[in-house]
Amino acid sequence: MTGIERWKGKTALVTGASTGIGYAIAVGLLEAGVNVIGCARNPTPLEALNGKLPENAGKVTPVRSDLTKEGDILKLFTEIGNRMGHVDILINNAGTGVLGNLVDGETKGWQTMFNLNVLATTICTREYLKLMERDGIEEGHIININSIAGHANTPVNIGLNFYAGTKHMITALTKALTTELAAKKSKIRVTSLSPGMVNTPLVAEMKKDSNSGHFFQSGNGLEAKDVADAALYVLSTPSHVTVSELTIVPGN
Ligand SMILES: NC(=O)c1ccc[n+]([C@@H]2O[C@H](COP(=O)([O-])OP(=O)(O)OC[C@H]3O[C@@H](n4cnc5c(N)ncnc54)[C@H](OP(=O)(O)O)[C@@H]3O)[C@@H](O)[C@H]2O)c1
Repeated sequence: MTGIERWKGKTALVTGASTGIGYAIAVGLLEAGVNVIGCARNPTPLEALNGKLPENAGKVTPVRSDLTKEGDILKLFTEIGNRMGHVDILINNAGTGVLGNLVDGETKGWQTMFNLNVLATTICTREYLKLMERDGIEEGHIININSIAGHANTPVNIGLNFYAGTKHMITALTKALTTELAAKKSKIRVTSLSPGMVNTPLVAEMKKDSNSGHFFQSGNGLEAKDVADAALYVLSTPSHVTVSELTIVPGN
């Protein structure tokens, strides 16, 4: 089978799947016939999808989980291991940006961003790989939702410098993971998907900020579906092709 069809009937875990980019990716995968486990602290929007999807869509399993807590992540993967063995696709999407400068920002915001953007991505990846290995599954795909902020800092200070630091780590970790998997001759592919500004609840919050809001209002953003379409393209490439990095920015 070619294209996205190859994943039909398989299962994906999408982290942070209740709103924004994660929700759009979850819907895109479900519509393509992929089963989706979607986690968030409040997965209600995913529960609302039940009964609204086309007949041939995948099955959605919403899970309540706070990924800043390692215990929640381990519990999630234990349940996956017990109930369905493994997931074939991991979309490390959950992430957040807490505005603040490096010179006077608050430690709490940095901790949240580090725990969610970096550690949760890394722990989910390790646990995903363990289950894939345990079940002897060769073909898989990990997409890390990165950002253009993971490749260069913003030209003006908009208070997202720690956020940019966490996303630079995603760039480095994605490359390092690719090297580790290549050394094991693994067929699991890894992609860093780096959007520019996307109109999501995260950006809507930032637009309200008196210092940084003008930056986010200065141009049109992508829509979450644009990023979902990019993720589906990455997944639909044949197994001899790896999209290692895909950057998408708004047309303007
Ligand atoms: N929007 C942009 O302009 C943009 C650009 C480039 C990259 N990105 C990246 O894209 C990803 C998604 O961003 P978004 O804009 O779609 O954000 P969003 O609208 O705020 O959605 C974030 C998702 O993550 C979940 N989440 C937040 N904290 C969580 C936690 N502790 N545990 C589990 N889930 C949690 C949220 O659900 P709950 O609140 O219910 O937990 C929600 O489902 C992030 O990695 C972000 O850095 C965004």
